[in-house]
Amino acid sequence: MRTIIYNGKGGVGKTSVAAATALRCAQKGHRTMIMSVDTAHSLGDSLDIRLSSEIVNIGENLDALELNIIHEMRTKWTSIRDYVSAFMISQGVEDITAEEMAIFPGMEMAAALFYVLQFKDSEAYDVVIIDTPPTGETLRLLSFPDVSDWYIDRLFGIVKRMVSVARMTLGKMIDIPLPSKEVMDSISDIKNNMERVKEVLEDPENTTVRLVLNPERMPINETMRSYAYLCLYNKTVECLIVNKVLPQDVDGNFMKKKLEEQETYMNMIHEAFDPLKIMYAFQLETELRGLEKLDEMADMIFGDSDPAEVYAKTSPMHFESKDGIDILYIKMPFINKDDIELFRGSNNSVTIKIGDQRRTVALPLTLVDADMLGAEFDGEDLTIRFKRKK
Ligand SMILES: Nc1ncnc2c1ncn2[C@@H]1O[C@H](COP(=O)(O)OP(=O)(O)OP(=O)(O)O)[C@@H](O)[C@H]1O
Ligand SMILES: [Mg+2]
Repeated sequence: MRTIIYNGKGGVGKTSVAAATALRCAQKGHRTMIMSVDTAHSLGDSLDIRLSSEIVNIGENLDALELNIIHEMRTKWTSIRDYVSAFMISQGVEDITAEEMAIFPGMEMAAALFYVLQFKDSEAYDVVIIDTPPTGETLRLLSFPDVSDWYIDRLFGIVKRMVSVARMTLGKMIDIPLPSKEVMDSISDIKNNMERVKEVLEDPENTTVRLVLNPERMPINETMRSYAYLCLYNKTVECLIVNKVLPQDVDGNFMKKKLEEQETYMNMIHEAFDPLKIMYAFQLETELRGLEKLDEMADMIFGDSDPAEVYAKTSPMHFESKDGIDILYIKMPFINKDDIELFRGSNNSVTIKIGDQRRTVALPLTLVDADMLGAEFDGEDLTIRFKRKK
């Protein structure tokens, strides 16, 4: 099963391109799911079909889901929610509702990613397409498996401490509810699932990101930032889709000027992103809505080719061994050398900080306790060299 995540700045056409891709995948015979994670769902509008927070079939080989985190909380995460609720009340805090838990950061993406695992296990789909909210938020959500480790470890820590306090005060009244086995199991399931999600997200055979932009300065700048960020989090960007390109035969002075301006931006995109695969869709004259228009968009972007094709197969981060030295390569486009800071955290990790983003990379077992010999940055790749302990 292949997962394709569409992302980009607000209004560039993520939802339209995601819907067009899903439609074409289904037409090519792939069992396809399109899932919207954006709380301001517009996928239904784009398809011109009423969608819901449960999976609906909307055509041959094509299912859709507008993920609603409150609905997910009410129906799926019940044992943990009940426990957190009981815990809150025991602490004199008012009961917590599904609605309140739903605003915990990253919950929507976590729920979406758990669906991805579920689909992978059930082998229900060949392609899962995810339409996401505008850039900043999604990037934060995509790094969720990293952040969640920290969250869950803390939650586990608190629960374990409570259990040991309860043991010490055996016989006395304790007013902290003890988590049931079911709750402990659910927390442990979430932790295991998050580890699997991380693996799936970081394997380009399984998951890739496609960035949508327009030939304008702001979307280009934002796409450069997202690309760098996604590399830091080891997510594979496989192509760009430049949407709302003006056709060459526009009339009038105003449009001609716009066309000239667009040429400059097109060159800028190529200069910045080549050799990444770049695809295009023209600005349509009429409203882009409904299956017929989406089909037209799919023609513009993919022609006769299969949109489920994998355009890039290497992830931004990999290890190599050369002459007894182990090297970690990390692709870091659009980054200044001066903005990169490296820390050797514990024995088994290295932390990379770029501006206010920080990622801790776990080292393979063979490199635990290895000496870090040094690091270089050539404007494109960061290389960190290690020597194993004998
Ligand atoms: N190639 C195109 N030609 C004409 N209209 C387009 C094209 N692409 C997108 N649109 C229109 O632009 C608007 C924004 O598109 P869309 O909703 O797909 O963007 P988005 O990136 O998902 O937006 P948001 O960030 O709000 O989720 C919609 O009205 C859509 O119909
Ligand atoms: Mg959208």
